[in-house]
Amino acid sequence: MATALVTGASSGIGAATARALSSAGHVVIAAARRLDALEETCSSLEGPSIAVAMDVTDPASVASGLEEARAFAEDHGGITWLVNNAGAAESAPVGKTDDALADRMLEVNFHGARRLTEALAPLMIEAGGGAVVNVASSAGLHGYAYVSAYCAAKHALVGYSRAAAAELKEKGVRVSLVCPHYVDTPMTDASAERLAEKTGKSEEELRAFFASENPGGRLVTAGEVAGTILELLADGESGSLVELDGSGDAPDGE
Ligand SMILES: NC(=O)c1ccc[n+]([C@@H]2O[C@H](COP(=O)([O-])OP(=O)(O)OC[C@H]3O[C@@H](n4cnc5c(N)ncnc54)[C@H](OP(=O)(O)O)[C@@H]3O)[C@@H](O)[C@H]2O)c1
Repeated sequence: MATALVTGASSGIGAATARALSSAGHVVIAAARRLDALEETCSSLEGPSIAVAMDVTDPASVASGLEEARAFAEDHGGITWLVNNAGAAESAPVGKTDDALADRMLEVNFHGARRLTEALAPLMIEAGGGAVVNVASSAGLHGYAYVSAYCAAKHALVGYSRAAAAELKEKGVRVSLVCPHYVDTPMTDASAERLAEKTGKSEEELRAFFASENPGGRLVTAGEVAGTILELLADGESGSLVELDGSGDAPDGE
């Protein structure tokens, strides 16, 4: 049994990861900005959990959220697993990607994960070991049109994770990456909604388009990503990178 802090656990992949961890008998610290949505996630879990309000772009909010998380984890062996999943994707063409947008993308997708890793890795080392899984994206490995700032931030997260994996391996902390293509979550729904307004196409048509863009021809499910995260936390080799592209059949019930 481990105690895992999951950011972005109020929705999509993060909420699915909280459920997968709890079903496997682990203790969950669910973090994000929306406390009501986090409490909803926690109320669906079988084992011990806590909802912790935390804005990963705000160092003071990260510090106070971590204080609360660590106090809760004291009775559960301390925080030895971290899932950096909080993220956001905004789009704009090159030429209209201003400093503010680039900063927003870097803050939430890169600095947030870096901040939590910096705070928790020393504690994991002290505790004798731990594991970090960073949720990047296929946009951390490939370039996509109209999301240059998001791609840049996810590439930064991939680079940081690879360096941290190399450095922390000898100290007992494994760092791995999950890089999904389009996943069936509220983030993809929001992209379809925005694009529908711009193009006049229906949201259903756009969701089908996103699915067709995935090499496997279907959207990845949040449960598949959560299952991969759980495997990597439990015994993934440090420096592992798993790209999920919708290949194979979707798991039953999703
Ligand atoms: N959906 C996809 O197609 C896809 C593909 C590849 C990678 N990803 C990545 O997967 C991760 C999860 O995305 P998702 O698809 O599950 O999207 P989602 O349903 O929109 O969830 C995003 C989560 O991030 C949290 N979050 C956003 N800004 C935050 C902040 N400043 N501080 C703390 N938490 C914050 C949100 O919670 P609050 O609003 O409550 O703060 C929410 O729980 C993201 O990193 C995303 O880039 C998604």
